[in-house]
Amino acid sequence: MMWTKGPLWPSSVLLLLTLLLSPINAGVGIGAYIAQWPEKIILRPGHSLTISCYQNYSNLAYMFWYQQPPRNGLKLIVSSSTWSHNSYEDGYSEAKFEVTRQNTDYSLMTIKNVTAQDAATYFCQLFFGSGTKLTVIGENDEIIPPAVAIFSPSKQEIQQKSKATLVCLASGFYPDHLTLVWRVNGVKRTEGVGTDESSTQNGSTYSLTSRLRMPAWEWFNPLNRFECVANFFQNGTTASINKFIHGDAGE
Ligand SMILES: *[C@@H]1O[C@H](CO)[C@@H](O)[C@H](O)[C@H]1NC(C)=O
Ligand SMILES: *[C@@H]1O[C@H](CO)[C@@H](O)[C@H](O)[C@H]1NC(C)=O
Ligand SMILES: *[C@@H]1O[C@H](CO)[C@@H](O)[C@H](O)[C@H]1NC(C)=O
Ligand SMILES: *[C@@H]1O[C@H](CO)[C@@H](O)[C@H](O)[C@H]1NC(C)=O
Repeated sequence: MMWTKGPLWPSSVLLLLTLLLSPINAGVGIGAYIAQWPEKIILRPGHSLTISCYQNYSNLAYMFWYQQPPRNGLKLIVSSSTWSHNSYEDGYSEAKFEVTRQNTDYSLMTIKNVTAQDAATYFCQLFFGSGTKLTVIGENDEIIPPAVAIFSPSKQEIQQKSKATLVCLASGFYPDHLTLVWRVNGVKRTEGVGTDESSTQNGSTYSLTSRLRMPAWEWFNPLNRFECVANFFQNGTTASINKFIHGDAGE
């Protein structure tokens, strides 16, 4: 369950645009919470998914549900209010996306008979947590964890730029439900890290790469341990697969 602190506002296009530009939860110190669960799920076609959304902001008249397909913007599915019928946007129907408002605090959306087209991240409300990521996998497809490899920096880069870049490649995984994290001597590193925005599909599996750039002197210390951790979601459990490499002793 993911708790997100942030204010809730009535529908406003301007606000939504701002959100799209900077999808950060702007905590303004109001004691309002949104919780949405599950966070992630993998389903086969034909199954259905019920997403729960809880919020305790007072006087909330409207509840909105959004869909964000992979590599795409947000789309509004439905707005519901406590006093009138749910209003569906074009392309979305109640038969497929059934919303029930249990009370002002609690709303459920059931996506029925999922197909590959429904694979997306779903959000309730305008200020989001990480949403619910739905992955739909083929009837006979298996969940396959990644192979992880780290590639050493290029000599050229070190000579010409005095920088060293390690590349971590996670490949051969399915479905596309993986994050990569770097650790240096056991400590998570975000500075100098660049990860592909999305996975690359190769046949029926995916790959994702991440780069860690550092000053050459950091690389030329054999006591330094550079570790790449692939966190792979397997429907309920997350497997961590890691590889590490030590700094180069130099000549
Ligand atoms: C909402 O729920 C959170 C978590 O239980 C709580 O800390 C907060 O005070 C509540 N806010 C209101 C306005 O009830
Ligand atoms: C993933 O977990 C959900 C809930 O536990 C279950 O309904 C679904 O069938 C599982 N998906 C797969 C592919 O096993
Ligand atoms: C589920 O969706 C598939 C593909 O759109 C369709 O062929 C099938 O009839 C649907 N099943 C039900 C129970 O609605
Ligand atoms: C795609 O997968 C095939 C077979 O696993 C492999 O030989 C090939 O190198 C991969 N291509 C890329 C671009 O990763």
